[in-house]
Amino acid sequence: MAKTKTQFVCQNCGTVHNRWAGRCDGCGEWNTIVEEDPMGGIGGGPGRAPKKGRAVALTTLSGETEHAPRIHTGISELDRATGGGFVRGSAVLVGGDPGIGKSTLLMQGAAALSRRGHRIVYVSGEEAVAQVRLRAQRLGAADSDVLLAAETNVEDILATISEGKRPDLVIIDSIQTLWSDTADSAPGTVTQVRTGVQAMIRFAKQTGSAMVLVGHVTKEGQIAGPRVVEHMVDAVLYFEGDRGHHYRILRTVKNRFGPTDEIGVFEMSDKGLREVSNPSELFLGERNAKAPGAAVFAGMEGTRPVLVEVQALVAPTSLGTPRRAVVGWDSSRLSMILAVLEAHCGVRLGQHDVYLNVAGGYRISEPAADLAVASALVSSLAGLALPADCVYFGEISLSGAVRPVSQTAQRLKEAEKLGFSGAMLPAASAEVPKGTASRWTEIDDLPDLVARIAG
Ligand code: TYD
Ligand code: MG
Repeated sequence: MAKTKTQFVCQNCGTVHNRWAGRCDGCGEWNTIVEEDPMGGIGGGPGRAPKKGRAVALTTLSGETEHAPRIHTGISELDRATGGGFVRGSAVLVGGDPGIGKSTLLMQGAAALSRRGHRIVYVSGEEAVAQVRLRAQRLGAADSDVLLAAETNVEDILATISEGKRPDLVIIDSIQTLWSDTADSAPGTVTQVRTGVQAMIRFAKQTGSAMVLVGHVTKEGQIAGPRVVEHMVDAVLYFEGDRGHHYRILRTVKNRFGPTDEIGVFEMSDKGLREVSNPSELFLGERNAKAPGAAVFAGMEGTRPVLVEVQALVAPTSLGTPRRAVVGWDSSRLSMILAVLEAHCGVRLGQHDVYLNVAGGYRISEPAADLAVASALVSSLAGLALPADCVYFGEISLSGAVRPVSQTAQRLKEAEKLGFSGAMLPAASAEVPKGTASRWTEIDDLPDLVARIAG
């Protein structure tokens, strides 16, 4: 018999190599390349004749199609992140760091769905039935009709969920534990995970059950091992948050049936996750408005406004090279703002340590936070507190100009709702609400901002 040709697959990014190497060319990771059987799990294998193709009917784009049928959990933060509930026949990947609360979230979702009369199967590959039950008791979900199984073998799982009445939703926790008889590689390898996920997706498409797949994320923020899984599923949700803080964000990064920039916000308590319908109140909770160096940023998460405090500490350094430390924001953006302050406003920070923190363990990704960061820095350096009832947003360019950002009206509306009566925003912002303009201060450029804060 001919020798089966094997291939070498990077477990981090899925790049296929002809020979083993210590470092993957694709992603630059070390020790991630593993030998695998290329035909594993594809049902073929050498020596088997290819099946004769079958013609499928071609159709037009204009045909009638009903809306994606959804099942709602009634947990509105979860429904919001999925774009209005889980879609029947689709597969959703829920990724996140170990211990962040994925199993907790899905157990609560499962219980809520089963209370609404849906048939839910929860397959745990990581915990024994007793452990899952214990968690369910703590969450007050033990009285629901969620069906449990502790299983990792793909064929056994498929046989289990195919038996009896079709489930409305199946949860696989997690894909890293799946293994199939048809793939030769060890459990947890790219081939095993891909084979298992493919089988689960096929089941969902054939039966119309919704499939939720849990995946752990590596430190780089990729779903562990197979990034390929992200391409296979219909939607990808990340469950993120800081372990040191209570709040958690369920972020949509891909969705074939809905918007991709939605977030659901939760708070972890001893009784599981609690919905947070107004995230701004959470992030502004412990605010000390009288201290210098704090500015409230009016940010957006998708369609949702989020107000959060940016804190800066600028202090004379005792070191040869001053320290720059950032939590919750991009450090290269901080360097840029410091350079612009120095070049265009004469603010010298070369002999100062600069610390920047976003309150509540929240992470800002918008460039619109530039103006809030600059305000916090200038406020701390000058030792002058900013007005407590003012929010800040706007992008700063290298020339020192303050550029307009999107969704001005929503940002201002949220600020008003939470009792802020002033705002510093870019000049020429579109959609500033009429009649209230006198309280919104338009900032042309960074020197203008510095003059207003430091006088
Ligand atoms: P878990 O859902 O097991 O995380 P994952 O599935 O993402 O690995 O959550 C584990 C953490 O959540 C654990 O550190 C304990 C905490 N937790 C609570 O604080 N309250 C609770 O009611 C539950 C069930 C868990
Ligand atoms: Mg878990």
